[in-house]
Amino acid sequence: MLRSHNCGELRKSDVGQAVQLCGWVDSYRDHGGVVFIDLRDRYGKTQVVFRPEEGSEVHVEGRQLRSEDVIQVMGEVVPRTDKDINPKMVTGEIDIRVQELKVFSKSKTPPFEPRTQDLPNEELRLKYRFVDLRREELQKAMFLRHKLTKLARDYFDEQGFLDIETPILGRSTPEGARDYLVPSRVHEGAFYALPQSPQLFKQILMVSGYDRYVQIAKCFRDEDLRADRQPEFTQIDVEMSFVEQDDVLSMIEGLLALWTKEVRGTELQLPLPRLTYADAMERFGTDKPDLRFDMELIEISDLVTDCEFGVFKNVVGSGGRVRGLNVKGVGDRYSRRVLDNDMKGLVGEYGAKGLAYFKVVGGKLESSIAKFFNDEQQQAIIERMQGEDGDLLLYVADQPSVTSAALAALRNHLGRDLELYNPEDMAIAWVLEFPLVTWNEDENRWNAEHHMFCNPFEEDTEYFESDPGKIRARSYDLVCNGYEGASGSIRIHDTKIQQQVFDLLAISPEEAEERFGFLLEALRYGAPPHGGVALGLDRWVMLFAMYDNIRDVIAFPKTQKASDLLSGAPAEVDPKQLRDLNIKLDVKK
Ligand code: AMO
Ligand code: AMP
Repeated sequence: MLRSHNCGELRKSDVGQAVQLCGWVDSYRDHGGVVFIDLRDRYGKTQVVFRPEEGSEVHVEGRQLRSEDVIQVMGEVVPRTDKDINPKMVTGEIDIRVQELKVFSKSKTPPFEPRTQDLPNEELRLKYRFVDLRREELQKAMFLRHKLTKLARDYFDEQGFLDIETPILGRSTPEGARDYLVPSRVHEGAFYALPQSPQLFKQILMVSGYDRYVQIAKCFRDEDLRADRQPEFTQIDVEMSFVEQDDVLSMIEGLLALWTKEVRGTELQLPLPRLTYADAMERFGTDKPDLRFDMELIEISDLVTDCEFGVFKNVVGSGGRVRGLNVKGVGDRYSRRVLDNDMKGLVGEYGAKGLAYFKVVGGKLESSIAKFFNDEQQQAIIERMQGEDGDLLLYVADQPSVTSAALAALRNHLGRDLELYNPEDMAIAWVLEFPLVTWNEDENRWNAEHHMFCNPFEEDTEYFESDPGKIRARSYDLVCNGYEGASGSIRIHDTKIQQQVFDLLAISPEEAEERFGFLLEALRYGAPPHGGVALGLDRWVMLFAMYDNIRDVIAFPKTQKASDLLSGAPAEVDPKQLRDLNIKLDVKK
């Protein structure tokens, strides 16, 4: 070993020892000839000191060290005088008096220093990711990621799960995003698709009798990216046989409780709260509510059918809804400009045509549109909203889906802006009973809400003909702080029901056979009842780290435009490679 200790290890009790440390020059200060260097590795920092009297050669070399040089120092652990003790560093009671120095490599001037508080833009950080990864925040995320992964592997191992790998080069899977394709050289004109998830393979493993499967699986989806989405991401993918929904949920709850205990040192209250999809949409306007705070959506459509405010009346008349929020006690906090521009703009992004608002003052509504509501209507609204003097009431009138989306976004915004929760809280809950299918307006057909292998509730099968939108699936999402952290379902193992679902989705027998015939065939050879779930590992690391950008928990992430700025992927390839693949490009520059 080139070192006797790491840079986070030495304490006062080590004083007098001769040690060897290796690391990066984190900072250097030259105090009238005495050079102080913070030497850094992933374990911490130790201050090493070059004094003129140690021998001129070492001292001269020490004076030439600069940020991010990699060095080895040999020296003695010495105590700091009381006034020099740094209580913020675990090694802050000692220094290393350097007797020998070896410079392993000099660093070019880094584009930014790992210890900087003043972060440069993310592009620069991603381009120089090797420097960025030296920062404490990213190290913390990498440790945490390792820890959550290791705990999950051990947990599932103890529960009797087998870790089985499934192919990366495969066929397109029906998760609903665009595929990343890989051309085949051997089979001219044919393509592999990178897996959007191991869904089909894990179901086949159930048919094969591996009744408890787990995999830390890389998934690839060519979709629009957001702060919580990456084109390649990692799932903790789970499937179980001979189980019912509750068995899957409690298995995952056990993992969440373990993570919470080991990472945060607290007990997670089990079972986790559960709400149905219908409830979530009604109360919060979204299937991934942030449950760290209340402020639920309240409907007033029935109270405004006869009011004189045309917008409300007309919307309700044409089958829309008027729903709103009571923002407690902040009647005077937001100016008209903020309400009419910023907040109206925010709900506008979700299709709302406006934002109506009132203050509750002296038991009445106050605003430019209050005059359109008579006393009785005002009282009814205040009562429904549980309004009190000083409250701010906000409304969107529109088609149901617009009121949901717009108010959900507004609620999240207000929760953050008004600090309605402790940002360190984690509010985890299950959302159950998603609709099996949703209507696709553009394509005029039903789409699977989750995927086409989710088992419908038996008592809802009567709606297959009459009202498919009403069919609930045995599917479930795990939500935390407004993020979807996991998703799964009990699957169809009965080919008749599977056919019914395909018919509903207008997937012809030929198309089904072509796209996932191999799964359907497997299901005909003895399929056990089974179900499973996949957790978004990256998102859970982000949540436990309390970061709000998924890229900060991935060592080598991609940008919003799906580029890797470090390696320069994606990139053009050698024409010979294209010839081998029989590919001719037709790119409009
Ligand atoms: P689903 O598509 O909901 O389900 O994915 C499961 C979980 O993976 C995470 N996730 C993502 N994380 C980062 N970037 C992305 N682009 C991304 N997409 C999804 C989310 C999500 O809840 N095969 C099914 C699971 C099953 O039914 O067992 C599936 O993939 O946290
Ligand atoms: P207008 O009569 O269009 O000037 O609107 C009067 C107020 O009602 C403004 O504050 C608008 O933002 C609001 N408003 C307009 N349309 C809607 C709507 N669909 N839902 C809620 N508020 C609206």
